[in-house]
Amino acid sequence: MADSRTLTLNRPLDMHLHLRDDDMLRMVAPHSAAQFAGAVIMPNLVPPVTSGEMLTAYRTRILKVCNGVGEFEPLMTLFFQHYTESQLSAAQPHLFAIKLYPHGVTTNSESGIHSINAAEPTMRLMEEMGIPLLVHGETTGFVMDREREFLTIYERLATRFPRLRIVMEHITTAAAVQLLDRFENLHATVTPHHLVITLDDVAGGLLQPHLFCKPIAKRPEDRDALLAAALAAHPKLMMGSDSAPHPRHAKESCGCAAGVWSAPVLLPRLAELFEKHGALERLQAFVSDNAVRIHGLNIPQRSVKLVREPWTVPAVYAGGELPAVVPWEAGRELPWRVSAA
Ligand code: NCD
Ligand code: ZN
Repeated sequence: MADSRTLTLNRPLDMHLHLRDDDMLRMVAPHSAAQFAGAVIMPNLVPPVTSGEMLTAYRTRILKVCNGVGEFEPLMTLFFQHYTESQLSAAQPHLFAIKLYPHGVTTNSESGIHSINAAEPTMRLMEEMGIPLLVHGETTGFVMDREREFLTIYERLATRFPRLRIVMEHITTAAAVQLLDRFENLHATVTPHHLVITLDDVAGGLLQPHLFCKPIAKRPEDRDALLAAALAAHPKLMMGSDSAPHPRHAKESCGCAAGVWSAPVLLPRLAELFEKHGALERLQAFVSDNAVRIHGLNIPQRSVKLVREPWTVPAVYAGGELPAVVPWEAGRELPWRVSAA
């Protein structure tokens, strides 16, 4: 629902979110709870979330730091490894999905899988039990080609497991958008920053560490294809921010950590983008309805209101002993803000 000054989104969802743990969790999670009715929580902690017990304990820690901010449903994930049916059943009360990382492709993926073939028995179980498979779809090839090279693996998985709901996470290429229409059981998330930036913004001028993430931003024609699909609210595409905080010193350093921390600006930045392209009425589908329909989610009703009032994104968020983190769009004025009411 929108007039020219306000925009109300029903149960907005962030379908790919890194909240970390401890002090970083306390620092970042309230930003998501302030804007979203729920989020899919990535399991790449150190050590990764690999049991029902760890998953339930992590969920409790998340709810604790979000308490009082707004009703927020953490949709929990396990880190893909070989699981037995009883391990999956034990996790199921709070298990939303399992996240697969190939070995060594991104932050904390050292215990990722080495062989897709060896992963098949667990995928078979997931298919039978109705547990979605979320995939970080990159090979270890040349950095600009990693996602494209992985697309044949998606095709194979989608064919071999026709009833397994597969989500291609944080897609960054026009080719991935095209694949969505070829396999009924393939879906995707896309990040707001990949709708806006290309590799030029990361490395075309002075190097911008706060825009460095995996998968790396690609070519203008890739960004344009992602943006067109998002603005059209492509029915198989969901907003997943991949907001991935790292302390400022780990980003502004020799050996910059991969990840863009976008959580504080997500809905305002998306409202600006969709408005600019005359697509504001399709934002609801992109940030919620598609995900609810694809996954059959039962999320408590909660609406989040944006108002057309400019604000300037802080250069850095830091609170006392909590880590200092630089947000996406630091220092930029955004025309929309999240209303406190
Ligand atoms: C993520 C992180 O920091 O955990 N980094 C990133 O660049 N996106 C991991 C991931 O989703 O690849
Ligand atoms: Zn991620």
